[in-house]
Amino acid sequence: MRSLILLALALPLAACGPSTEKKQAAVAAFATVQQVFQHPRCQNCHIPGDAPLQFDAGLPHAQNVVRGPEGKGAPGLPCSACHAESNPPASYGPHAPPGAPHWALPPPDMKMAWIGLSAPELCRMIQDESLNGGRDFEAMLKHVSEDKLVLWGWEPGGERAPVPVPHAEFVAAFRTWVEGGGACPGA
Ligand code: HEC
Ligand code: HEC
Repeated sequence: MRSLILLALALPLAACGPSTEKKQAAVAAFATVQQVFQHPRCQNCHIPGDAPLQFDAGLPHAQNVVRGPEGKGAPGLPCSACHAESNPPASYGPHAPPGAPHWALPPPDMKMAWIGLSAPELCRMIQDESLNGGRDFEAMLKHVSEDKLVLWGWEPGGERAPVPVPHAEFVAAFRTWVEGGGACPGA
């Protein structure tokens, strides 16, 4: 009898979303997510302006490269004019354009810009489906696990520093964050 009552009490609680522990774990894991998202290899494309950035210092991209109508560059100077689907061989030198499939910026009406955001701002922004390309948590997890531009951050070519957190560790942290309902620091 008592266990039935307990069950009746526990069920609605379970339906209320992740436990406090999972939320706390999510907030802790988000620090790793933020470290990666705001690494130069990622944030140089995730910017509010209309041109990509370059180098660890985030300098404006050379040659007046712009986002263009779809994020793929100006009609006359698309990203693909210089960026191929993979990094060029080392013999091309450290300043050759790096490459990965679908090299581009997010489109102008959905900039997915998170450079400079605080942890709570970043946390809320990336899970806002009106700002992230309509991705739910599962779609985001898939994106950070598999997307070729994301993976490029660990093999950036030339003398560029890769993202320092191992990719598997980043994905695990992202999963912990998702399992905690995308809980945000300071919330
Ligand atoms: C060369 C530019 C470029 C680089 C470098 C890049 N991205 Fe992106 N990113 C994009 C583009 C373009 C999209 C939009 C793709 C789409 O919607 O199909 C995107 C979308 C995303 C999204 C989905 C949007 C959201 O808010 O959930 C995430 C997450 C993401 N990128 C994470 C990263 C991470 C992490 C890195 C670094 C490891 C990275 N990106 C590096 C261009 C880039
Ligand atoms: C005229 C050729 C050219 C075009 C067009 C071009 N790029 Fe580049 N890009 C380069 C070169 C060259 C580098 C490497 C510079 C270096 O390392 O000295 C580079 C580097 C980059 C980097 C590396 C930044 C880092 O992490 O240091 C990003 C991101 C980038 N480009 C984005 C883009 C995007 C997005 C487009 C299209 C909107 C684009 N580029 C169009 C030539 C080009």
